[in-house]
Parts: sequence; C-alpha cells; structure tokens
Amino acid sequence: MVKLVTGVAGFIGFSVARSLLEDGEPVVGIDIVNDYYDVTLKETRLRMLEAYPGFTLYRRDLADSGLVGFITERHPDVTEIIHLAAQAGVRYSLINPYAYVQSNIQAHLVMLELARALPGLRNFVYASSSSVYGGNKVSPFSVEHPVTRPISLYAATKRSDELMSYTYSHLFKFPAIGLRFFTVYGPWGRPDMAAFLFTDAILAGRPIEVFNNGEMWRDFTYIDDIVAGIHAAHLRPPPPDADGVRHTVYNLGNHRPEKLMDMIGIIEQTLGRKAEINFRPMQPGDVSSSCADIETSRRDLGFEPRTNISDGLPRFIAWFRDYYQR
Ligand SMILES: NC(=O)c1ccc[n+]([C@@H]2O[C@H](COP(=O)([O-])OP(=O)(O)OC[C@H]3O[C@@H](n4cnc5c(N)ncnc54)[C@H](O)[C@@H]3O)[C@@H](O)[C@H]2O)c1
Repeated sequence: MVKLVTGVAGFIGFSVARSLLEDGEPVVGIDIVNDYYDVTLKETRLRMLEAYPGFTLYRRDLADSGLVGFITERHPDVTEIIHLAAQAGVRYSLINPYAYVQSNIQAHLVMLELARALPGLRNFVYASSSSVYGGNKVSPFSVEHPVTRPISLYAATKRSDELMSYTYSHLFKFPAIGLRFFTVYGPWGRPDMAAFLFTDAILAGRPIEVFNNGEMWRDFTYIDDIVAGIHAAHLRPPPPDADGVRHTVYNLGNHRPEKLMDMIGIIEQTLGRKAEINFRPMQPGDVSSSCADIETSRRDLGFEPRTNISDGLPRFIAWFRDYYQR
C-alpha cells in the first residue's frame, strides 16, 4: 500500500505528503523542482519530507512517458495516485502557455497511462481548479454547472484534465476523482499568491497591487482543510455513475467568499502595518469572484472546512515571519 504523490516540492503536494507520512504511510514523491518560484522554499519542503524514512523522492519530469515503465517496475505496489504537480497560476499562462500544455496536459496523460498500467491501483485523485468555472455567472459554483467557458489557458488545461480523466476511467475501468481547489493559502504557501505577495510587500514597505479596483471576492481555503479533503477523497473511489463510469469531480472550497479588501485588512491588523495600495484594472484571464458549492463534497467526503481567514491568515503570517525571520 504505497501512495504516489506528484508535486511534492509544491505547496499542496508537500502538505499532503507530510500528513500521510505522519500517519505512517509510505509515500513515493515526484517533482521536477522547477523554478516557477523560489527553489529554496521547495528544497526546504523536500528536506522536511526526506526526514521521514517512508519517503522516496524522484526528481523527474512527469511529461516524460518513460516514467510509466520506471514507476511500474520500481513501485508496482502503488495503490493510490494523488497527482498534484502542475504549472499553476492564471496570470503566468498568458506569458508562458507552452509550460501549461507540457505540465498540465502531456504530464496528465502520462499519469493516466501510469494509472492504467499499475496492477493494484485503487484510486486516481488529481488537482483541478475553481478556474474551470470561468465565465460562470451563477454563484455558488456547483459541480452540476456546465463548465464550457474557460477564460484562461490554465483553466482550459485543468478542464482538459477532467475530460481526459473521464475518458481513461471509462476506457480502462479505474476510479478517478478531480478536485477543484478554491484559492488555497496557509503555512508553506505559494509566493505568487495574494496572501504571500501582500505579507511580503507590506513587511518590506512596498506597495501592493490590487486588481479590479478592489472589487474582488475569493473563497479562500485553508491548507489543512484542503489536506483533509484530499485525504478523504483518496480513500473513497467513486461508485459507477449511470453509464458505469467511476469518475467524478468535487469542489474543495471554504464556501465563504471574502472581499479582498477585508482580507488585506486582516493582514494589516496582524502585521500592525498599513498597506500602500495601487489599484489596478481587472487582469485578463482572471475572475472577479469565486464561491464553492460544497454540498456533494460534504455528502460524499464528509468535507467540512473549519478555518476562516480571521484564523488562517494569522497562522500563515506567523509561519512567514518565522521562516523568513522578518
Ligand atoms: N494553490 C491553489 O490555490 C490552487 C488552486 C487551484 C488548483 N491548484 C492546483 O493544485 C495543484 C498543486 O498546486 P500548488 O499550489 O501546490 O502548486 P505548486 O506550484 O506549489 O506545486 C506544483 C509542483 O509541481 C511541480 N511540477 C510542475 N510541473 C512538473 C512536471 N512537468 N513534472 C514534475 N513536477 C512538476 C513543480 O515543481 C511544483 O513543485 C496544482 O495542480 C494546481 O494547479 C492549486
């Protein structure tokens, strides 16, 4: 019973792998450790994972199809795949689109081929994103809503992952779950995301950039709640749907959109400093608000987010100040 976790040097992959290792589960981790953001942060996360005897790391590109034979030979006992590696970020997909096709589509196909090849696979869980809702105007966003209008290439690759996973689940009869994460934050978080960017800039006395003139709402979801949701999902392969296909998607969000300006207020209060704000227009590819309907996640996974930003942001900031000694 070995769990394969991809993107283990990343924010969510690291957090999930650490929680599994804490429970005494053997984890095989894969990550190419790319330099999309601070590699030192990724290496620190990996050092923490390597302190557990049950952890095996491969620094490999998931887009390489040779990985299928490599893993099936060395680890035929993998029972669950938790595929979290990706090129993340909406804004960067306008700058480097090829990275998204490479890491989110080609690499996703390699992982599906691996799932197909592993003899004892019980569940394939992979990261999708709230961004698949794109131009959806109905809130909260439900997994029942049509998702046919992705407005960034990032969103289009994540939606493609869902479609490819459905097809593989149908053709090769393995269970698969896509998890649509909503703006995840917390300790060990990503340097390209709002909580990190704002904390960093306010402490350095630099102005922060706020888009759509502050008229932005986000369903901020604390990392521990996301880890709990992934944990529940990986142990619950979906039953066959009406067509006999064992593929489904769930929203993992806090189910509580917060106004960006309120979120900035909590950061200011926690740091005891005021932010200097440069208001900017809406960014192409971005959505102005997100809110998860979590009814099916509650029902099937027992998913119950417990942390609101008034508790979660101070915890993130405590980690940030301790880690960076600022
Ligand atoms: N953090 C969020 O708010 C959020 C929201 C929605 C969806 N997601 C999705 O959740 C997953 C995890 O996100 P995260 O925040 O931990 O991102 P992250 O960037 O911190 O982690 C992703 C990791 O994947 C690795 N990677 C990228 N391409 C690779 C490749 N070709 N081969 C091997 N490794 C590769 C990177 O080196 C990185 O360490 C991603 O699929 C992301 O798209 C995240």
